[in-house]
Amino acid sequence: MSNYTVIKSVIISLIAVSLLVMYLDNASLNPFVFDYTFGDFPPPLEYDEIIPDEKPDYKGVFFDHCELPHLNPWDPTITRFLRPDNKPAPCKPTIKQLTKLENGTLTTSNTDKNSTCAYRCLYPVNDYDLKYGNWANITKPMVPDCDIIETKCFDNHNTTKGYVPFYEFMHAQVYRNDTKIEPEENEEKIKLPDVYVIIIDAVSHSSFVRTLPRTYHELMANYEAIQFPHLNKVALNSRPNALAMFLGKSNRNIEKSPISVGYTSDFQNNSDCRRPLDDDQWIGKRFKAAGYTTMMNDDWALGPMNWPSCKGFVRMGTDHMMKPFQLKIEGRKYANGQIGHNVHSASCKESFESLMNYLDDFITAYPDKPKFTITWNVNLAHSNNNNLYHADGSFYEFFRKNEEKLNNSFVFVLGDHGIRFGGLRHTAVGNIEDNNPFLLLTLPWSLRRDPQISSTVRENAHQLITHYDLYATFVDIARPKSDTNSSKLILHGLFSGKSSLCAVVCSRFYDH
Ligand SMILES: *[C@@H]1O[C@H](CO)[C@@H](O)[C@H](O)[C@H]1NC(C)=O
Ligand SMILES: *[C@@H]1O[C@H](CO)[C@@H](O)[C@H](O)[C@H]1NC(C)=O
Ligand SMILES: *[C@@H]1O[C@H](CO)[C@@H](O)[C@H](O)[C@H]1NC(C)=O
Ligand SMILES: *[C@@H]1O[C@H](CO)[C@@H](O)[C@H](O)[C@H]1NC(C)=O
Ligand SMILES: *[C@@H]1O[C@H](CO)[C@@H](O)[C@H](O)[C@H]1NC(C)=O
Ligand SMILES: *[C@@H]1O[C@H](CO)[C@@H](O)[C@H](O)[C@H]1NC(C)=O
Ligand SMILES: *[C@@H]1O[C@H](CO)[C@@H](O)[C@H](O)[C@H]1NC(C)=O
Ligand SMILES: *[C@@H]1O[C@H](CO)[C@@H](O)[C@H](O)[C@H]1NC(C)=O
Repeated sequence: MSNYTVIKSVIISLIAVSLLVMYLDNASLNPFVFDYTFGDFPPPLEYDEIIPDEKPDYKGVFFDHCELPHLNPWDPTITRFLRPDNKPAPCKPTIKQLTKLENGTLTTSNTDKNSTCAYRCLYPVNDYDLKYGNWANITKPMVPDCDIIETKCFDNHNTTKGYVPFYEFMHAQVYRNDTKIEPEENEEKIKLPDVYVIIIDAVSHSSFVRTLPRTYHELMANYEAIQFPHLNKVALNSRPNALAMFLGKSNRNIEKSPISVGYTSDFQNNSDCRRPLDDDQWIGKRFKAAGYTTMMNDDWALGPMNWPSCKGFVRMGTDHMMKPFQLKIEGRKYANGQIGHNVHSASCKESFESLMNYLDDFITAYPDKPKFTITWNVNLAHSNNNNLYHADGSFYEFFRKNEEKLNNSFVFVLGDHGIRFGGLRHTAVGNIEDNNPFLLLTLPWSLRRDPQISSTVRENAHQLITHYDLYATFVDIARPKSDTNSSKLILHGLFSGKSSLCAVVCSRFYDH
C-alpha cells in the first residue's frame, strides 16, 4: 500500500513535469523584447549565455493532459489530523541571563567580585567549520567584531580539575564591518530591490493557508502578495529541491518512459555531493556579483546543501552566515549541549525565532545596500505541521513590523515540499500536499501596480511551476553585469527553451 502510494506520487509528479514541458512546447509565446519596464537595471543575460533545455523527444510519451488540483485545506478526509489548538506547554525561563547584547554592545549584569564573565567571537569559516576568537573578560561594555558571540561566567578561585563555568550562553547579531573595503560603487547608485527568501521546511500550500492565517492575511493584504498554488516539488526531500532552487540543477536521472521524456542529471557521479558547490552556478554568487550583500541562515548544524555528508560550501557561501551559532549548538566538532539548552529551551526561545531575529538584524544593518538572503526554517514544522499554528503570531509580527523596510523587495515565502510524515501524509489529500509546497511572492512596491508586470505575474501564478522556475527567476532578478567570465548557465524551467530567460516572475520584466 505505501509502495503503491509512493509509486503513484512519483507517477503524478512525472506526469505533471512531462506534460508541462509538452504544453509549453506547444504554447505560442510572443517573443520577448528586452525593454526595461522599470529602473536603470543592468542588462539581462544574453541568450547565448545560457544552456537551455534540449528539445524533448516526445516519442513514446503518452499522456498529454494535466488537471491542476484545487485542494481544500480543510478537506473532510484530513480534518481529524488537524490540531489548531496545538500549543507548546507554557514556558518560564529557567536561566537568568547574565550577559546581554544590545545594539552591538555586550554587557554583563554580574556584579559578584568573585566571578568573571568573558566572551569570545565565533567567526564563520564554512558549512562545517568556525574559527574561535580569543576570550576576553567583560570588564566594561564591549563591542565584539563578529556576528556570533559565546559568553561564560566563572568562579575566579575554583581550581577543581575540569571546572565548568556556572554560566554559558551565546548571542547573535549582524556585525557590519565598516572598515571593509567595498568594491567601488558604480556610477550613480541604483537602488536595486532586495530579495528575501524565507523557507518553512515541509509546508504545503494547504498547510500554510490552514496554519498561518494571520501571516497569510498580512502578506495578501499589506504586501499584495501573489500566491502560486501549483508549485510542484522536483524530488523527495530538501536537498534536491534546494539544488533546483539555488543552483538551477537536477542531481538525478529520470528515465525516459511513457510518462516522461527523460532527463539526465546535471551532476555526474554525484558531484553535487562529492565536490564543493562554491564555484558552481550558486545563485548567491550571482547576487554578489550584481552588488548585493548576502546572507544565509538555517537552524541546523548541517543544512540543505550539505546534508547528509556532502561537501556543501568550503568557503563562505554568503557575506554573513549564522552557521557558527548552529555549529556551537550541535555541530560535530563544536557542540556544547549546555549552550544549546540555554539559548533555546531555558530561554523559552525557539530556533526559528533565532533565525528570524538574525534576518531582522541583517535587514536593519544594511539599509543602504541591496540585500539577498535565504532563511531556511528546518525545525518548526518538519515533523509535524501542527507545530505551525502557534508560530503564526511570530511571523505575522515580523512582516507587520517590516512592511516599510520590505517595501522595495521581492519576498519569496515558500516550502521546499509538503509534510512527509504522520497520519495526514498517508491520506490521498496528504499525498498531493506533499508534492505541493506553498509559495507566496511579494513584489517591490514600484511593480505592484504596473499593469503589465502584475498581470503577467498573476497569469503565471495559475500555472504549474517547479523550483527550477524559481532559479530562473532569481537569475533574472540578479542580472549581474556580464563581466563575470563564468561558463554558460544551465537553465531549466518553464520558459527556458524560449527566446528569453523568463520564468514565473520574470516575463514581467519585459514588454512583449
Ligand atoms: C538600541 O537602539 C534602539 C534603536 O536605536 C534604541 O531604541 C535603544 O534604546 C538602544 N538600546 C541601547 C541599550 O542603547
Ligand atoms: C568572595 O570570596 C571571599 C573569600 O572567599 C568571601 O569572603 C566573600 O564573601 C566572597 N564574596 C562574594 C560576593 O561571594
Ligand atoms: C580574566 O579574569 C580572570 C579572573 O580574574 C583572570 O584570571 C584572567 O587572567 C583574565 N583574562 C584576561 C584575558 O584578562
Ligand atoms: C568548583 O566547581 C565544581 C564544579 O565544576 C564544584 O563541584 C565545586 O563545588 C566548586 N568548588 C568550589 C570551592 O566552589
Ligand atoms: C574588517 O575589514 C577589514 C578590511 O578588509 C579587515 O582587515 C578586518 O579583518 C575585518 N574585520 C573582521 C572582524 O572581519
Ligand atoms: C564517472 O565515473 C566513471 C566511473 O568511475 C568514470 O568513468 C567517468 O569518467 C566519470 N564521469 C565524470 C563526468 O566524472
Ligand atoms: C511604499 O512606498 C511607496 C512609495 O514610496 C509609499 O507610497 C508607501 O506608503 C510605502 N509603503 C510602506 C508600507 O512603507
Ligand atoms: C575568460 O575566459 C576566456 C576563455 O576561457 C579566457 O581566454 C580569458 O583569459 C578569460 N578572461 C579572464 C579575465 O579571466
